[in-house]
Amino acid sequence: MTPTTTDAFTISRRELLRAGTATASMPAMAGMPALAAAAPAATAPTASPLTLQVNGRSHQLVLDNRTTLLDALREHLHLTGTKKGCDHGQCGACTVIVDGRRINACLTLAVMHEGAQVSTIEGLGAPGRLHPMQAAFVKHDGYQCGYCTPGQICSAVGMLDEIAQGVPSHVSDDLTASPQPSAAEFQERMSGNLCRCGAYSNIVEAISEVAGVKA
Ligand code: FES
Ligand code: FES
Repeated sequence: MTPTTTDAFTISRRELLRAGTATASMPAMAGMPALAAAAPAATAPTASPLTLQVNGRSHQLVLDNRTTLLDALREHLHLTGTKKGCDHGQCGACTVIVDGRRINACLTLAVMHEGAQVSTIEGLGAPGRLHPMQAAFVKHDGYQCGYCTPGQICSAVGMLDEIAQGVPSHVSDDLTASPQPSAAEFQERMSGNLCRCGAYSNIVEAISEVAGVKA
C-alpha cells in the first residue's frame, strides 16, 4: 500500500479510509443515548369496561381503548353484518346508526359510545321481518356481491331521516327550505357509500320506493 505523506504524519490509504468511516459514524453514535433518553417509556395499552347498547341489547365489555366501534361489533359482539372495507373512512361499508345518525364505525372508538344506541343491519330487520329498506333493496336488486349492502341500507335509512329533519345537502336548491327527497338528493347524500359492483341505479330505485318518489 502506497503511504500518503503529510507534513505532520504518514498514513496508509487503508488507514485513512478506516479513520474516515469511524469519524462519519461518531455524530450518530453520540446522538443515540440522547434519543433513547428522549423516547417515552413504553406503556401497556389501557383497557376500559364499557356498556354498549346494540340493537336494543346491552353488552358489558372490557376493551382496549383503541378498539374501533367496527371491531367491537365484529370481533367482540360477532355482529359481522357490518362490513370492513377500507378501515379508513373511505367506502362506507361499515356504516351503522348511532343515536339516529349514520356514522362510519371504523372511524370512531367504541369507548366513545358508552350508553349510545347503536343500530346495525342485524337490528334493522331479519328474514321474515325485513325493514322496508331491506325489502326494497331485494325487490330492486340493489346489490350484486352484497358486501357494501349493509352499509348502503343503514346509510339510506339514516339519510332519509336527515332529509325528514331538514338537513340540507350540497344539491339542495334552497338551504333555508326543507329539502325534498329526490334522486339527486339520494345520490349526493349516499356518495360516501361506494359500491364496487356498480349497483348505484338500483340502489337509488330502492331508496326512491321507500321515500315514495320517482327514481
Ligand atoms: S370500512 Fe369504514 S369507511 Fe370503509
Ligand atoms: S354490491 Fe358488490 S360492492 Fe356493492
